[in-house]
Amino acid sequence: MSKQLSTRNLLGIKDLTEGDIQLIFETADNFKEVINRPIKKVPSLRDVTVANVFFENSTRTRLSFELAQKRLSADVINFSASSSSVSKGETLVDTVKNILAMKVDMIVMRHPYPGAGVFLSRHIQANIINAGDGAHEHPTQALLDAFSIREKMGDVSGKKVVIVGDILHSRVALSNILCLRKLGAEVMVCGPTTLMPRYIGELGVRVEHNLRKALEWCDIANMLRIQLERQDIKYFPSLREYTMMYGLNRALLDSLGKTITIMHPGPINRGVEITSDVADSEHSIILEQVENGVAIRMAAMYLLAQKD
Ligand code: CP
Repeated sequence: MSKQLSTRNLLGIKDLTEGDIQLIFETADNFKEVINRPIKKVPSLRDVTVANVFFENSTRTRLSFELAQKRLSADVINFSASSSSVSKGETLVDTVKNILAMKVDMIVMRHPYPGAGVFLSRHIQANIINAGDGAHEHPTQALLDAFSIREKMGDVSGKKVVIVGDILHSRVALSNILCLRKLGAEVMVCGPTTLMPRYIGELGVRVEHNLRKALEWCDIANMLRIQLERQDIKYFPSLREYTMMYGLNRALLDSLGKTITIMHPGPINRGVEITSDVADSEHSIILEQVENGVAIRMAAMYLLAQKD
């Protein structure tokens, strides 16, 4: 019997077992080999129709999902809220039910509201992948991040990972914490007190407010963008002050006396949380993360399509 995921939707890392994550990684290993061949396409999702339903902007996630679908020979339709009938008052459930009436099998959805994917899963039968729901979860980002650590370091277990920046508003932070902890990594979060969720310690992570100390501790630093679009009040005096306290620059990196790996989920705000000479340095695996995103999303969609 072939291995299967324990879930028919990918709504969050919290729903995955360690075995599910390892199965996604092993499947992504095979698809990564496929997408580096001269002929990059396989018929694995032929006759499967996938709708990419995006209620929020995206570059990496949306293009990565669409490319993954095309590499798997799926039929693809794309929906952007900004150019749709949502502006005429249509609800989320009505919008998706209309898309499904066109015989769509799988929905990939990004939405500004936490829990939007869970809500949708109570109303429809198609497989759902959460491509980011507000400040809640971004499971495929966490999977591609952990897969990239595994590729670079051989294993995730036992590695020390610090996530730096706007933890409070970041779906990438929560999904990364859950994924890395399930895989046996040690996780630290670093940032100003005002950008730290009140109950962060309950997730089994260390909390550090001094960037130098955090970098001295870690093997890998995952630098996050300030999520200005989700901030309703001022959480720090100015971006300049934030950069002075929490920005990663080459002088700081070189002064550590050891080599650490630099990650960023994108989009990067160059000169704010990370300088260009760090983002583009030999220590950065930011573009490897993007490349691995296609293989991880191929694996996730392929495995979910095996589940009824
Ligand atoms: N990392 C990420 O989710 O990027 P996009 O917002 O461009 O999809």
